[in-house]
Amino acid sequence: MEYAAIVLAAGQGKRMKAGMNKQLIDLNGIPLIVHSLRLFEEDEACKAIWLVVSEPERQTMEKLVAEYQIGKVKGLVNGGAERQDSVYAGLKGMEEAEIVLIHDGARPFVAKPILTKLADEAAQSGAAIAAVPVKDTVKLADKNSVARTVERKNLWAAQTPQAFQYELVLAAHEDAKKHGFLGTDDASLVERLDKRVTIVESDYLNIKLTTEEDLLFAETILKKRENQL
Ligand code: CTP
Ligand code: MG
Repeated sequence: MEYAAIVLAAGQGKRMKAGMNKQLIDLNGIPLIVHSLRLFEEDEACKAIWLVVSEPERQTMEKLVAEYQIGKVKGLVNGGAERQDSVYAGLKGMEEAEIVLIHDGARPFVAKPILTKLADEAAQSGAAIAAVPVKDTVKLADKNSVARTVERKNLWAAQTPQAFQYELVLAAHEDAKKHGFLGTDDASLVERLDKRVTIVESDYLNIKLTTEEDLLFAETILKKRENQL
């Protein structure tokens, strides 16, 4: 199934403490955001990429898109204060598509078959997310003490991409905005409307680069890919 991608890069990367937007951090000689954009550039089913940026970084991002010849980028859209605002700006700023994949620019390692599966599932059921089974035992706490242990077999850690029928995710964002609901992912806005969200099992390499130690994991993943490990 063909799709359009929204790639988010409008955050500040505060937890990374890199002194700059983490999307610009060099990974093997290439900025992190370029690694993420290449995933979609190289997937034939992806027909357009909409890159969401923060206004002061617009030119830098434009230059990277040109330098690394990411030809599928159809436009740059200014993001907002929260991730959810940035996604909404992307949805409003893009040309309509039947299926849209929303992806964190800070997740450069999603496997290609996952992209295809997500787009196909969203075309069928409306919404689909990449996720992995939770490995740790998860405790629900009441302040500093355990209230109970949550049954692990039903727990999944949500990742991106998250794929949607365009009309559905736009309606979900508009409803959330209207009611002042702020979710931590896009699927949660669709869930609020009692719509089905299908889980596509992804893998543990699809990490989001959030804190400094994630850079160590990223380097290791890249080395492994280049058969240096
Ligand atoms: N993002 C965005 N607009 C925002 C906030 C986040 O486009 N207002 C993007 C980030 O650039 C990132 C993705 O959403 O690719 C996931 O967010 P997160 O990992 O939290 O990144 P940051 O918000 O940049 O980092 P932090 O929360 O540590 O400041
Ligand atoms: Mg953030």
